[in-house]
Amino acid sequence: MESLFLNEQKTIQEAEEIINTVENSNNPLISKFSSLLNNYKRIYKQLKRLIKLSDKQQQRLNENKESLEIENYELVLELGQAFESFIRTLTTTIDAKHPFTAGHSHRVTEYGLFIGRNLKLSHDELEVLKYTGLLHDIGKIGVPDVILTKKGRFNEEERRVMNNHASWTYRITEGMRLPKAFKDIPRMAACHHEKMDGSGYPYCLEGEKIPFFSRIIAVGDVFDALTSLRDYPKYDQEKTLDFDPMSTQKAFDIIERGRKSHFDSGVIDVLFEHKSDLEDLCFELQNKAFVEHKI
Ligand SMILES: [Fe+2]
Ligand SMILES: [Fe+2]
Repeated sequence: MESLFLNEQKTIQEAEEIINTVENSNNPLISKFSSLLNNYKRIYKQLKRLIKLSDKQQQRLNENKESLEIENYELVLELGQAFESFIRTLTTTIDAKHPFTAGHSHRVTEYGLFIGRNLKLSHDELEVLKYTGLLHDIGKIGVPDVILTKKGRFNEEERRVMNNHASWTYRITEGMRLPKAFKDIPRMAACHHEKMDGSGYPYCLEGEKIPFFSRIIAVGDVFDALTSLRDYPKYDQEKTLDFDPMSTQKAFDIIERGRKSHFDSGVIDVLFEHKSDLEDLCFELQNKAFVEHKI
């Protein structure tokens, strides 16, 4: 702070030198000058004290600002965790309506994130992808239990009602007032049954008209359906397969056969480039499902 007052110090020093060099100390002008100098010194001292005080206040303000920022950050973090646990609980409830689909949305999300990470998506994009995966089947809440929990193959009408879950996903998530960064999730989540050749549902979109994150979730969705136990048969194009979990290699073969017609080539290329890591993840998630849901 001393450097701030170099001029003032110099003035005081010069004034003192003048007073000391004047021989006649009884000179009234000198005594007036000396008293002015004393006043000037007092003001100078007070000014220094005030600046010191305001520095301290500024420091205290900065500390308060820092602690406020930390508090805000923790609040945002807490809100984020509460939001995620709310969505996870919601989807777990729907998946758990049927023991064989328990944990499905969670696993699809993990497969989606696996693909997303290998595509080097940003943290914010992965967050969007995560909630798209978690919410993709939320529309099953609109499917009557008698159909949702039916053992065996659906007839045509049941299939139509079941397929409606994708539209329900849109309606439900659209009404959720999700944060601004998640504004595209309703449409992306609703499009997880669209196919590249336009034969999917609910909008019969083709190729790149299907949102990219929906194409990622579509692969994760089918991969989980094939590698998990289901109480309705699995299908390989027109062929009906059995109910048991399939080996990952068999699931890869089926997904490969859906290249371009069902799945995005780029997405399945990423999946196949990291087959062995995906197999480890699948093994881990299926073991977890066995422990948590006894399936
Ligand atoms: Fe679905
Ligand atoms: Fe699904």
